[in-house]
Amino acid sequence: MKTLILANHKGGVGKSAVATLLAHYCHRQGHRVLAIDLDHQGNFTSTVTLSKRARVASATSDQLLSNPKVNLPADRFVLVPSADPLLGLERQPAQHTPFARNLRDFLKSVDGQFDVCVIDTHPNPDIRLIAALATGDFVLSPIQLNQEAIDGVRALLHHPRVGFHKIKAVLNPKLTMIGLLPTMVEPTPFQKANFLALVQKYAPMMIKISDAAGDFARIPKRSAIAEAQADGLLLWEMKKTAARDAWAEIEPSLRHITEIVAPKTVTASEASHAL
Ligand SMILES: Nc1ncnc2c1ncn2[C@@H]1O[C@H](COP(=O)(O)OP(=O)(O)OP(=O)(O)O)[C@@H](O)[C@H]1O
Ligand SMILES: [Mg+2]
Repeated sequence: MKTLILANHKGGVGKSAVATLLAHYCHRQGHRVLAIDLDHQGNFTSTVTLSKRARVASATSDQLLSNPKVNLPADRFVLVPSADPLLGLERQPAQHTPFARNLRDFLKSVDGQFDVCVIDTHPNPDIRLIAALATGDFVLSPIQLNQEAIDGVRALLHHPRVGFHKIKAVLNPKLTMIGLLPTMVEPTPFQKANFLALVQKYAPMMIKISDAAGDFARIPKRSAIAEAQADGLLLWEMKKTAARDAWAEIEPSLRHITEIVAPKTVTASEASHAL
């Protein structure tokens, strides 16, 4: 199992929307998916629950940190929902090390049960984010194309407690930054200028999805995406033309990110057909 963490210290940038899209997309691609919502706001929990595609665990995500042993239902798509006690975890500093250890041990214990684990996080950097980053494999950072968000990339990388470089150096050398995923992208002159500024400043962190110049993973701003998020619908199953168009636009980005997290293994029969 590979664990992907959606993280950005900015609020409202599309973390939960991207977590939802990726969890459903990975499931659609045939992967066994574990979805964990570490945000007490519970947006990821709501949309995945509403979709009725995942089995909702009776354990809540705070227990993955506070309990040394948590059992999950057997299913190909399981959600560990958010709950209010998540808010109290930061206020128990003496327990932070056991919290991080419990989450790591839990993820290890379900390693054979799932292929991909998608973790949604809260914008405030706290022990929930640290525990996830200390054990996960990949970080993906949705980002909006405004100056404040671009300035925020520095904290994402260099924050003294939860910055990517600090965590990688001190706690989790295997942690890999997939990169920045511009979200709610609109073709306005303002956003185009900010996109250019982002590419110039953080070129290695942009996620290239083809050999074409400037073809980076991105999620456009589309009302169908917000609707899917609000109603727990799967974008590719929505009948409206606008939803189908939005799906066609974002599918290459989701496919690319999914293939980084869970590379497709070639089956014996596929291999023999290729010869
Ligand atoms: N690509 C998009 N197009 C249109 N609306 C979007 C898009 N992505 C997200 N939204 C909407 O923007 C709002 C914020 O998105 P979301 O909840 O995913 O952000 P977040 O980063 O998880 O926020 P928080 O920091 O509060 O957890 C939601 O109402 C969501 O439906
Ligand atoms: Mg969110």
